[in-house]
Amino acid sequence: MAVKLKSGDEVRRMRAAGRVVGETLAQVREMVRPGLNLLEVERFVRDEFIRQGAEETFLHYTPDPKRFPPYPSNICISVNEQLVHGIPRDRKLEEGDIVSFDLGATKDGFVGDAAITVGVGRISPEAERLIKVTEEALWAGIHAARTGTHLNDICGAIEDVALAAGFGIVRGYGGHGVGREMHEEPHVPNHRIRFRGQPLRTGLVLALEPMFTVGSPEVGEMDDRWTVSTKDGSLCCHFEHTIAIKEGCEPEVLTLA
Ligand code: MF3
Ligand code: CO
Repeated sequence: MAVKLKSGDEVRRMRAAGRVVGETLAQVREMVRPGLNLLEVERFVRDEFIRQGAEETFLHYTPDPKRFPPYPSNICISVNEQLVHGIPRDRKLEEGDIVSFDLGATKDGFVGDAAITVGVGRISPEAERLIKVTEEALWAGIHAARTGTHLNDICGAIEDVALAAGFGIVRGYGGHGVGREMHEEPHVPNHRIRFRGQPLRTGLVLALEPMFTVGSPEVGEMDDRWTVSTKDGSLCCHFEHTIAIKEGCEPEVLTLA
């Protein structure tokens, strides 16, 4: 599958999906408190999609029907040692948890995709630093996303932030192109690759999603076939924005609130 550059009009249309995701995630952030049930968040997202006229993107999604059951929810909620793709269940957040909310929405035929990680009440200094650094890495990747450079410049910018902070970088998961499909070419690793990679051009729309760990970066899939957790049980963190690359300036971040 080839990279699909978006026209100016398509990028304009992608703003609508991005805004739904950004605004809904901002409200989810405000809901976070000890005692919040993850199922309440799923219900809130479902209601917001109806209110904002958005279609589900994650619900029933499967990258490969032979290997994955369809994803059962509208949002991924991953707590502490869970990295990504956690399924909202009847579980209450506790003081000191860190929790990633990953949300996709479709509007006017296009997808927006973003994620935040939030601390619940008072969290440890190490957890605080992990969240701060992972979000910094996302912004380092965004600032590196300039026409005239290549995909590897984004990957390297993200990698350098993790290395400087001493955090592990998860391999095998990363960002991706976004458009009519949630996952388009190219894959965007969170570490340098062997080649310069895709030239960054106007109309390239990417989801950048750094995923860092406090301990070993080894991760595995849990029994539900979706939840990805660190093998050593250490804390991990994930942030994501969908961005549109523009000639000669900073990319437009489509999933801001
Ligand atoms: N935003 C995530 C990604 O880019 C999660 C999608 S998985 C789903 O891979 F199944 F929930 F859709
Ligand atoms: Co994504």
